Amino acid sequence: MARKIIIDTDPGIDDAMAIFFAFQAPQLEVLGLTTTFGNVSVELATQNAITLTEIAKVNVPVAKGVAVPSKIAPRPHPDFVHGADGFGNIDWPAPKGKAIDKSAAQFIVDTVREFPGEVTIIALGPLGNLAKALEIDPEVANLVDEVVLMGGTAIEYGNVSPVAEANIMNDPHAADLVFTAPWQVTMIGLDVTHQVLLDNTVLERIKKANPTEGGFLYDCAQHYINFYSSRFDMDGCYFHDASTIAYVMDPSIFGVELGAVRVACEGIGIGQTIFAPQGMSFPEPHWNDVPMTQVCMEVDSEKLLALFETTLS
Ligand code: RIB
Ligand code: CA
Repeated sequence: MARKIIIDTDPGIDDAMAIFFAFQAPQLEVLGLTTTFGNVSVELATQNAITLTEIAKVNVPVAKGVAVPSKIAPRPHPDFVHGADGFGNIDWPAPKGKAIDKSAAQFIVDTVREFPGEVTIIALGPLGNLAKALEIDPEVANLVDEVVLMGGTAIEYGNVSPVAEANIMNDPHAADLVFTAPWQVTMIGLDVTHQVLLDNTVLERIKKANPTEGGFLYDCAQHYINFYSSRFDMDGCYFHDASTIAYVMDPSIFGVELGAVRVACEGIGIGQTIFAPQGMSFPEPHWNDVPMTQVCMEVDSEKLLALFETTLS
């Protein structure tokens, strides 16, 4: 039986990679896309999510979510990374479809209640929709199969401050609620996504095998790769959001450590995911009685990229 997933997303070039990867994976059944601000505004993220369903010709509902962080001022959208359109400034036409008439958080609650114990939520952006779902119906935490999120970092440097990753920094209060709720969270952060380099040779082969999705991803990715190449002197881009899809398809690709994660919500460390490994105790109490998160620390990069390529080809 295919694993039921909801993808919470801010598309976003690497979000588009993750979403097409999931649509093409026979092991996964995508029940819906829920959108958030992040790489772009929530309006544009919603439009982009609908565009992705239309390119892939799938009938997957899109529900619009939160527009701003829960307690801090919004940060500017990173158009230098994803383009002003979120797709690398490729001038793609607006979609024909519309979002459903239900908020992202309500869609999450209703879908989890419809399939208790069966739904995995894959979060690829700031975590406001998940926090709102918990606020509407705290019981959903016990009814979700797993939350797999791209965000945070345990020991690797951050990408928006020396210690903070962008998705967590964009709504640290929501992230702290998600890490401390009683559901199984798996964190796929920069510790692993910075170990995987996606380059144009892989994207070119996918484009050749699958001109529709592959061609779109190749065109979007050029802006993204230019950003990474100029900033980090690398020939390609890091493999962020799509790593979550590989994890749900084949968790053996990753090595995980267990521990309690709390998020710094103020000061110069704002947005930091602070990881207390299982079995270590500290005089400071903030990590006591916090559920164990599975934090991915190792990844088989070759196997991961092979799964991405074969699934999309
Ligand atoms: O830090 C990487 C994350 O930030 C990815 O989810 C990317 O899409 C951006 O949202
Ligand atoms: Ca994202």
